[in-house]
Amino acid sequence: MATPRPEIHAFPDSLVFARKLGAALGWAVERAEVHHFPDGESRIRVRATPGAPAIVVRSLHDPNAKLIEVLLTADALRRAGAASLTLVAPYLAYMRQDRVFAPGEPISQRVVGALLGGAFERVLTVEAHLHRVRALGEVFPCRAESLPAAPALARWLTERSQGALLLGPDEESEPWLRSLAEAVGLPFRVGRKTRSGDADVSVELPALPAGPTRAVLVDDIASTGATLAAAVRPLRAAGFGVVEALVVHAIFAPGALERLRSAGITRVTSTDTIPHPSNQIGVAPLLAEALAARPS
Ligand code: R5P
Repeated sequence: MATPRPEIHAFPDSLVFARKLGAALGWAVERAEVHHFPDGESRIRVRATPGAPAIVVRSLHDPNAKLIEVLLTADALRRAGAASLTLVAPYLAYMRQDRVFAPGEPISQRVVGALLGGAFERVLTVEAHLHRVRALGEVFPCRAESLPAAPALARWLTERSQGALLLGPDEESEPWLRSLAEAVGLPFRVGRKTRSGDADVSVELPALPAGPTRAVLVDDIASTGATLAAAVRPLRAAGFGVVEALVVHAIFAPGALERLRSAGITRVTSTDTIPHPSNQIGVAPLLAEALAARPS
């Protein structure tokens, strides 16, 4: 008997992205039913074909409840006879706390990696925030892959940002910004960031090249927007008339866009790993390609 085709399982908040993946791959998209009990617990019900590889799609911004629901969904799918379980989390939360920054803290990256890696056989994401570990496989006890967003960002930059300077706000952004800048043939620099609180950030710029009057701030994540806002002011002072932002994961907490606007950012563009009005760059094709090459 032929193996059933893989099935994609989505939540109300991930349905749009899941449908893009389903359309690219020709795979059915099933909607997980989520009921929230009055005490805040979640009940999950899935509809799955026994023997079909299951692909659970959910971005894990605003992560705490979503993480639990994704783990419950994995259990439900296994009990329903899924042949294998893959998690596609276009944005993977808790990757930034990758060491003990201050005494008494956990390494959240490892905790979340162990939970998800114990529930799924494979985890796929886009541009995970990995700085002190090199590969997602070091964090997840399963097959895990972080796909670079650079090809998608490069296409966008090539079409719209010729002649611009690319600026990464901190030294951590240097490796991937370098490969992006090389791919598009634009100059790049990285700043030096100091964070004193969630939204209390300063960015010191290095010497800037003469010539460009337009800058694109590039970062993997924008949350409070404080990092990007802090980089705009010195760029403006250095004579850049147009400063825009290009981010992979548009978390944009309440107040973030206003912070960017008042700092003088002219345009904010993001990928669609997290649904947001600034989404202009689709990453479903990157994930679809990885799934098509290896469906389970
Ligand atoms: C940090 O290392 C990341 O690359 C981002 O720069 C950071 O998460 C941005 O956060 P926020 O928008 O809150 O400054």
